[in-house]
Parts: sequence; structure tokens; C-alpha cells
Amino acid sequence: MIETVGVPHVVPLEIILPDEPLLMMGAGPVPIPPRVAAANSIVINHLGETMNKVIEQIKEMGRYVFQTTSSHVMGVSGPGSAAMEMAISNLVHPDDRVLCICNGYFSHRMAEMVSRVRGEPVVLQVANNEQADVEAVEKALRTTKFDAITLVQGETSNTVCNRDLDRIARLAKEHGCLVIVDAVCTLSTMPLEMDQWGIDAVITGGQKGLSSIPGVSLLAFSDKAWNEKVTARTEMPFHWCLDAQLADKFWNQKSYHYTAPVSGLLALHEALRLVCVETLPNRFYRHLHCSEALQAGIEALGLQLLVPKQHRLNSVIGIVTPSQVSADVVRTHMSRVHRVEISGAFGLNILRIGQMGEQSRAHNLFRTLHALGASMQTAGADLDLPAGMAELERFLSQPRSNSSSMTRAMLCDTVIPA
Ligand SMILES: Cc1ncc(COP(=O)(O)O)c(C=O)c1O
Repeated sequence: MIETVGVPHVVPLEIILPDEPLLMMGAGPVPIPPRVAAANSIVINHLGETMNKVIEQIKEMGRYVFQTTSSHVMGVSGPGSAAMEMAISNLVHPDDRVLCICNGYFSHRMAEMVSRVRGEPVVLQVANNEQADVEAVEKALRTTKFDAITLVQGETSNTVCNRDLDRIARLAKEHGCLVIVDAVCTLSTMPLEMDQWGIDAVITGGQKGLSSIPGVSLLAFSDKAWNEKVTARTEMPFHWCLDAQLADKFWNQKSYHYTAPVSGLLALHEALRLVCVETLPNRFYRHLHCSEALQAGIEALGLQLLVPKQHRLNSVIGIVTPSQVSADVVRTHMSRVHRVEISGAFGLNILRIGQMGEQSRAHNLFRTLHALGASMQTAGADLDLPAGMAELERFLSQPRSNSSSMTRAMLCDTVIPA
């Protein structure tokens, strides 16, 4: 054979990757526990008895984290956006009118997906740095007949949280709409009760709250949505890979759809198992406590948070960069000197620090806050670093009962399967 393309010069990974890995404290992906990493290194047959057992457990644990009894929990070989596209392309049919509640980048992505499957998106634009207003949603639902609504629980891009998701979902139900929710950055970090709140599709990625790997995602359809939109449809959906009826062959009928990402599913299994071991109430508490402690520390440094408390997402914290400081210089200094990576933002002069999964551990908070404060000072900010560190310490050492705004309901009302 004559090689028309020569062997490329390739640098081995051990040279490309840093000797000391960065601590991933941005908006995702997040660090994964050793058990998840170990599971991700295994390849087994994608069909057969062993895989069937793994799949059954992923579904059962998925029902727990989504808080649903639906029999339509399934994984997707792809990013959170693939799960989003799977939900939308199966539940939105051509000419369906969809109310797309938009707080930022990811909620707009859902609106775009609605138009790509030939639905009719009607955007309800929410004011900057605010959560969706229930009355505005109700007015829109009263004025026009919609087939579905889409919204995010947490808008990672600008750190806004739709805290009234439960009320909005119930309202949409009263108006006969299906409810499609993006919980990519929030699932398992804060309460979401799919059945209780009347949600028809919940979408999540692996790489955020669940602390698994990117590229293998999870979603759940309600039985109602499945019967009305998935099995009752007469036209084929646009995407073969994302056709929920075909995916059901693998997820519920123990047969072939496409070759499943076995290593990623084993990693997801372990990540979900660790959620079950911790339990949702304890996990919600850990996330809230750590996020509020970090927020208090950041404010005590002398920095300002982007979003007012009543609209603020706890899973990703948005920090206003002081006017004389470059966010990029801060991030670069944090990575090079402190080996801590945080995120910039989508066109906003803010920095974002994640509080999802393994990020929400006390040792990671201390390292990150110190790296942030020291790097800000290097970049020209006038801050009180010792005051920030002391406030973080003070907040974290508060006893559980009086340390945060966690309500009794958050701790006690979660259904834990026997
Ligand atoms: C709220 C939200 N939705 C959707 C996505 C898309 O996920 P992915 O990048 O895995 O496609 C993200 C990713 O950051 C997100 O934060």
C-alpha cells in the first residue's frame, strides 16, 4: 500500500496533560469520585445478562433522583443537549405551539430545538438576573393555547434559578400543557419532584450534579407524555438515534438500538449509587450548605454576587468582576499558580464557580476561595482575603440545624425507596 497520508507526529497524552491535574471548579464538568473513574475504565458487552442488571439499576436509581415512578427513564449516548433534543424531538410534534420560558443561553437552546423540529416556539423572555415570574407565565398560558412549555431549573449561563418551577409546572398542567424541564446543572443538588410537580420530561447531563463523566446523559418521560406523544405519534421523529421508541428497545426490552456507551453507563451507575448512599436530603443539604458558605466567603472578600438571593442559583455561583480587573487574567492566574479552574461566562464580565457534586466539599471550597482571592489581588482588586477565608470557616462550622435556609420540607419530604 502507498500511504498518501503520512503518519502524523503525535504527542503522548502524558506530555499534553499537566502533571498536577487542575481542580475543576467551573460550571462543569466537575471532578469525579474514584469509584466513578474506575467504572469508566471497564468495557463489557452492551447486551446480555450483566448489562441488563446494570440497566435495571440505573433506571431504578434514576427514578429516585428524578422522584418519579415512571417506567420511561432512559440514558442517552451524548451530552446534556442530546437529552434535551431527545425530549423535545419526541414530545414536540410539527406545528405544536410551545411556550419557551427563557432566562439565558440554555433556555434559548430549547427554543431553538423546538423550531428545528418544526414546532412553534413562543419565547417568554425573563428580565436579566431574575427568575421566571409566575404571574407572567400564567398570563401567557391564559392568553394562548400551548401544547407544551420548556424551562430550565437552573440557568448555568447567568446563574439564575427558577425557584418557582413547582408552581409553574402545576399551572402549565392546569392549562393542559406538557412540561419539559432542563435540570442539567441542578439534578441531585436541589429538590426536583417530577411526579409531585407534574413534570413530563426531565433532562440531565452526567458531568454536573451527578459527578459522572460528560457524554452520557439521562432523561425521564412521564407515563402521560409517553402515551400521548411517543407511542401515539403517527409520523416518525426526525432523529433516528434520539427516537424514544427505538431507545425503549434497549432501556426496557433488553434488545439492540445502538451500541450503548457501556463504560459511561457503568460510570453513571456508580455516580447514581453514590447519590443513593448519600440520600437526596443529605445531598441537598451538603450542596446548599457548601454553596452558601462559599457565597458568604466571596462576599466577605469584598466581591459582589451577580444575582440577588431570591433569584440566585446555588449550583453555580456568578461573581461580578470588579471594573478594573480582567476576568481572564484572574482565571489564568488561578489555573497556572493555584491549579484551580473556574469559568468565565457567555459574554458577561463575570466569573462562575460550580457547586455541583464533588465540588461541594469543604477542602475544595478553601482551596478555591484562597485561589480566587489571591488571583484577584494579583489582577489588581482590593480585597480582604483573610476576612473571606474566616467567613468561609465560620459558615462551614455552623451546626446543621441553623446553618442555612434549608427548609424542613427539603430535608424531610423526599421519598426514599426501601
Ligand atoms: C442548564 C444547562 N442545560 C444544558 C446544558 C448542555 O449540556 P451539554 O453541554 O452537556 O450538552 C448545560 C451545559 O452546561 C447546562 O448547564
